[in-house]
Formats: sequence, structure tokens, C-alpha cells
Amino acid sequence: MTEVRRHLPVLGIACGLLAGLEAQAQPDLNNGRFVAVGGYLNGAPGGSAGACFQCHGLDGAGDPTGAFPRLSGQSAWYLYDSMKDYASGARQNAIMTPIAQALSDRQMEDVAAYYAVQEDVPFPPPPDVDPLMLQHGAAISAVGIARQGVQGCVNCHGPAGIGIPPSYPALAGQYASYLQLQLRLWKDGKRGGDPLNVMENIAKLLTDEDIEAVSKYFASVRLPQPGQGTEGTAGGATPDTQAPQLGVVPSAGQ
Ligand code: HEC
Ligand code: HEC
Repeated sequence: MTEVRRHLPVLGIACGLLAGLEAQAQPDLNNGRFVAVGGYLNGAPGGSAGACFQCHGLDGAGDPTGAFPRLSGQSAWYLYDSMKDYASGARQNAIMTPIAQALSDRQMEDVAAYYAVQEDVPFPPPPDVDPLMLQHGAAISAVGIARQGVQGCVNCHGPAGIGIPPSYPALAGQYASYLQLQLRLWKDGKRGGDPLNVMENIAKLLTDEDIEAVSKYFASVRLPQPGQGTEGTAGGATPDTQAPQLGVVPSAGQ
């Protein structure tokens, strides 16, 4: 008995620490879903206008017109960090800023985790892009533009832009208009949220044409979907001879 007594405080501290870690490391996915459907807004002025699903979908597929970005495929950390940036004003957006400001830190963490675990979220057909533009975009992605001092995007965003979690977001399959807007905002010095200013420096080296090409290229990349074999690549719409770069993307480990 005395033996046990002596160890109890130690055990207590250990459990307390573990519980603390648990609370930090284990976001509540149910609560995240509740945030996504606008549950926290019930009865609040404005109703469910801020419900994430209305713009990003319940699975995070975003909006096929490209007005609202795809959230699925991004890491929980990146999504959470983006929410914090909207809330702090580092990233300014008329729609997202007030929505992020209305959420608690915990709610941002939970909803970020909820969207990060959505899997096998279908992609819309890839955009119809001029093959030469697609080729220019693919080249920027792979090797950059040496004469302008631009390095290849894959150096940080992973092969074909699948993303390198947690801090390098996926670009593959993201809507072209959204990617284009972000690059233009950086070019104009209007998008923060990137502490080392890596993206601002890169965007300033790109012409408007480069930005359009690389955005459309990444929007055209299709990641293999489970059970689809190679059928799911490039939406099946682009013949391989025209765009050999748009083959099956190797998994992150390769
Ligand atoms: C009325 C439409 C709308 C609603 C509702 C909405 N969003 Fe957004 N969201 C947008 C738009 C538009 C953008 C792009 C803003 C920009 O250019 O920075 C965006 C961007 C984002 C981004 C940045 C994505 C990236 O790749 O950097 C995150 C994360 C996000 N929203 C999460 C949420 C969450 C979580 C909710 C619910 C709490 C939500 N949004 C509700 C329209 C909406
Ligand atoms: C040295 C590393 C690095 C390189 C190279 C790089 N990026 Fe990024 N990129 C980042 C980081 C870090 C972020 C996340 C910034 C943030 O947290 O908002 C980012 C974010 C982005 C985003 C915003 C994605 C979103 O969901 O909002 C776009 C678009 C983007 N990069 C495009 C490119 C393109 C195009 C290239 C190649 C010309 C490129 N990047 C090269 C580091 C890099």
C-alpha cells in the first residue's frame, strides 16, 4: 500500500501530462463537422451564412466554378494555419476574415482536422487548357524558369504538386482561378500568411502569363483515386500524347 501511495503523485502527474497532450493532439472530428455545417451559428445573427459546407462542400471538394477552394487533400496544420491567418488579418478576404474571426481556436482546430481527414473526394473534370500553355505550366512546376530566377514548384510542393505536409500545401487539383488569385495577391504584396515570404518572392518573378499557365497546369493534375486504376488521371480527357506530364503522380514516398 505504501509502495502504491508513493507512486501515486508521480502517476497523477504523468496522467495529467498525457491528458494535456491528448487534448492538444486529438481534435474533435465531430465538433469539426458541427462547425462545417454551421452548427455553432444556430440562433446567431446571419444564420448559417458562415457554414463552411455552403462554399467548400461537406467533403471539402470546393466549388466546381472555382470560386471556393478545395480543402480536401490539405494537411490539418495548413488549414488551421490559414484560418489563423484570416482571423489575424495576415490573410485578408472579405468572406473568410469574418468567418474565421467568429470561431474559437478550438473550433478552427477541429474543423481543420475534419476537412483534412476527408478521403477519396472526387475531382471535377480538368479544365480545357491550350496544350502549349499546359506545357509551359508543367515546365515551371518541374524546373522553374532559370532566366527569371524561378525554381521549380515541386521543390517545395512535392511531385506534381501533391503537397508536402504539414506546411507545403497541395496544388494538384486545386481550382485554377483560386491558384491564380493567390499568386497575383502575392505578386501585388497583398497576401501574407507566409512568414518567410517565399511565395511573395517567387510570385514577383513570374509574369501574368506564367501565373496563368502554372495555375492551369496544377488545376489539370489528377491524383490517382483508389479503385480507379490509371483511368482517373488527367480526367481521361487529355490524350497522353498531348500532355505526357499529366500521368499518374508517384506517391509521396517515391
Ligand atoms: C461564403 C463562402 C465561404 C464560406 C461559408 C466559407 N468559406 Fe472558406 N473560403 C472562401 C473563399 C472565397 C476562399 C478564398 C479566399 C482567399 O482568396 O484567400 C476561402 C478560403 C478558405 C481557406 C484557405 C484555403 C487555402 O488553400 O489556403 C480555408 C482553410 C477555408 N476557406 C476554410 C473555411 C472554413 C473552415 C469555413 C467554415 C468555418 C469556411 N471556409 C467557410 C469562401 C467561403
Ligand atoms: C521554397 C519553397 C516553395 C517553392 C519553391 C514554391 N512554393 Fe508555393 N508555397 C510555399 C509555402 C510555404 C506555401 C504556404 C504559404 C502559406 O502558409 O500561406 C506556399 C503556398 C502556395 C500557394 C497557395 C496555395 C493555397 O492553397 O492557398 C500557391 C498557389 C503556390 N504556393 C504556388 C507555387 C508555385 C506556382 C510555385 C512554383 C513557381 C511555388 N509555389 C513554389 C513554398 C514554396
